[in-house]
Amino acid sequence: MNTEQAFAIKGDICFCKTNNQWTTMENAYAVCEHGISQGVFAQLPEQYAHISVVDFTGKLIIPGLVDLHIHAPQYAFRGMGMDLELMDWLNQQTFPEEAKYADLAYADRAYTIFAENMKHSATSHACLFATQHRAATELLMDRMEQSGLVSFVGKVNMDREAPDNLRESSAETSAQETLQWLYEIAGKYQRTKPMLTPRFIPSCTPELLTKLQIIQQEYELPVQSHLSENPGEIAFVQELCPTSKFYGDAYDAYGLFGRQHPTEQTYPAIMAHCVYSTQEEIQLIKDNGVFIAHCPASNTNLSSGIAPIRRYLNEDMSVGLGSDVAGGHTESMLRAVCDAVQVSKLYWRLVDASAAPLTFCEAFYLATKGGGAFFGNVGSLEHGYDFSAVVLDDSSLQHPFALTIAQRVERAAYSALDNYGICAKFVSGTPLFDHVHSK
Ligand code: GUN
Ligand code: FE
Repeated sequence: MNTEQAFAIKGDICFCKTNNQWTTMENAYAVCEHGISQGVFAQLPEQYAHISVVDFTGKLIIPGLVDLHIHAPQYAFRGMGMDLELMDWLNQQTFPEEAKYADLAYADRAYTIFAENMKHSATSHACLFATQHRAATELLMDRMEQSGLVSFVGKVNMDREAPDNLRESSAETSAQETLQWLYEIAGKYQRTKPMLTPRFIPSCTPELLTKLQIIQQEYELPVQSHLSENPGEIAFVQELCPTSKFYGDAYDAYGLFGRQHPTEQTYPAIMAHCVYSTQEEIQLIKDNGVFIAHCPASNTNLSSGIAPIRRYLNEDMSVGLGSDVAGGHTESMLRAVCDAVQVSKLYWRLVDASAAPLTFCEAFYLATKGGGAFFGNVGSLEHGYDFSAVVLDDSSLQHPFALTIAQRVERAAYSALDNYGICAKFVSGTPLFDHVHSK
């Protein structure tokens, strides 16, 4: 073994193997080799006896968190203009801001801040929407690559139902720009990959969706979009696509809704929200292996509703969490974990008494292994998983009695410790920063 390619981090380690069980080890070693986790050990095994150990004794070590849905250009107005529902919010708040990304100097300022803050967040893997603008999207990909996170980034496609300064002039232009984007970024990055991003059905003409299907198949791209988020939006989709049986069917008609047949191995799709998915839509999401990005903060801020996540979990569907900045007001995925728990409690109390609230462990699982499955073996420190980890210093939170590691992680999340308590971060084996040892 080449020990230079291996190292360990030592601390109080916590991750989930299954969605209802913590694995915790005090003063333990998480071993990384070639960017892959070799497992967690109470003592370093003989074959690793000589590797270097980065000592975080007393601090919490958790897997890097996975954000399945975030809009990079909206970061600039996070926490502002939260008094509107989706369609008014898009028209009054979002579209005017996104139009600014035609200006590359503005995009550079905004995306530099975004990428820097993502670097220092608890997120290791993310799926990002950019805007329709090709140059700004490439700049975002440059910044994300420099940040060290692993990400999928999408140039947004939108050729209808948006102001002139944001709508692409035709389906042909939108498709051509997408092809040009794919050409220009081909082979350029190690950690940053493209993802096809039709904004949502109201923004895309049938001609555009037809062209995107061809691009998707040729480049074998995963797809991300929005689904069944808001009642007004769903009614609008029905009006625009009268022949669609349900919202998801409007994507599926163009092969943009995960695999076409249960046996086919094609590229997956992520659909954000699924608050109002009907039985038929749920069945298709399941059959096609579509990932659901549950975005509880956004669903609350935009008065969208509460997604029935307990049901999706009972049905063994693929679910992860998304911050959905700036529908969501923060990029904090620990906050998203708490929000997922909280909205599930309201759902249980107010909507369906048979839908048990999520436990903290279940929600943490969604933010790690649940969403991580989209990226492969991601979201755990088990042997064979991508080695991504965040080190949290919770020493500022004093306590009168001894806590378990799982209690400390929960307390850290509810105390927003990721806003100030992240002291080191590793993504795919690379240290992005280490405030403890760089002092
Ligand atoms: N649907 C279409 N675009 C958007 C967006 O930017 N944010 C959210 N939350 N929903 C959308
Ligand atoms: Fe969104």
